[in-house]
Amino acid sequence: MRILILGASGFVGSALHAQFAENHEVVGTSRGGHGLVPVDLADSGGVRTLVEQGFDVVVHTAGAVDLGAAQRDPVAAHVANVAPMQPLLDAIDHTGAKLVYLSTDNVFDGTADHYDESATRTPINVYGETKVAAEDLVLAHDRHLVIRLPLVYGRSPLSNKFLARFAAPQIQARTDIVCNPLYLPSLAPAFEQLADTSGVVHIAGAETLSRFELMTRVRDHLAAPARIVATDRFSTAEDCPRPLRLVMRSMRHSLTGPDVATALADLH
Ligand SMILES: NC(=O)c1ccc[n+]([C@@H]2O[C@H](COP(=O)([O-])OP(=O)(O)OC[C@H]3O[C@@H](n4cnc5c(N)ncnc54)[C@H](OP(=O)(O)O)[C@@H]3O)[C@@H](O)[C@H]2O)c1
Repeated sequence: MRILILGASGFVGSALHAQFAENHEVVGTSRGGHGLVPVDLADSGGVRTLVEQGFDVVVHTAGAVDLGAAQRDPVAAHVANVAPMQPLLDAIDHTGAKLVYLSTDNVFDGTADHYDESATRTPINVYGETKVAAEDLVLAHDRHLVIRLPLVYGRSPLSNKFLARFAAPQIQARTDIVCNPLYLPSLAPAFEQLADTSGVVHIAGAETLSRFELMTRVRDHLAAPARIVATDRFSTAEDCPRPLRLVMRSMRHSLTGPDVATALADLH
């Protein structure tokens, strides 16, 4: 397959780029650097020219992912996450490629026990609202795929932002925010198995735990010096409303990422 990865300098995008490159012809983009194809999603002409080079699949991982920043500046979040979508979809339509769009568990409000693909989306923050708006544009086309992800953890080739946190002397981590986090290397194989799927799929890890538990277990595994400080909604001034319980399941497939112990056995 010939695959285009938009956002191949990012945490998720650079891992997908490296893994897909083992079996496919892959072109990756960023806004500049890393030897990737430079393109800004705001440049719809540049995006069209690139897409028209001909790809079987376009994987869209680019955009604004900082929840606090999106809450402070909803217009910028919309510009990054929603405005480029229609020109991108129009360009792709032209070529017959399939778009795979990465979305988030933050499209849900966190009040249910768990969420499958049929659950109603009720975002409580701006980031989630932009992802719902982008999903709607993608899902207006039958052949495209939206993959909703929970918190993703692990090592990434170009943007190692998850593990970089453990270099700090202390990390604040919420005891009251729970999800089933996905180990990053398990995304590409799941993705390959779902390549012929369209609509919405959830891909999540096998274990449900709090941010505090996850960070503590990763810190212990790495033998990092960082102190993990337990916080919750009462002790922290929130920069953004955050859903508390985001457990994703799938009614469409039985794939899950590994539990945390299995993931940590792989994490170096
Ligand atoms: N990380 C998670 O835990 C997680 C969880 C759920 C869902 N997701 C979803 O997964 C996707 C990737 O997240 P991530 O954590 O990997 O994000 P990230 O590390 O911040 O990477 C974002 C990528 O987007 C690119 N980008 C940003 N604005 C751009 C623009 N205007 N034009 C072109 N490229 C642009 C960045 O490239 P440059 O800065 O190099 O230009 C970078 O490659 C997002 O859609 C996110 O919603 C992530």
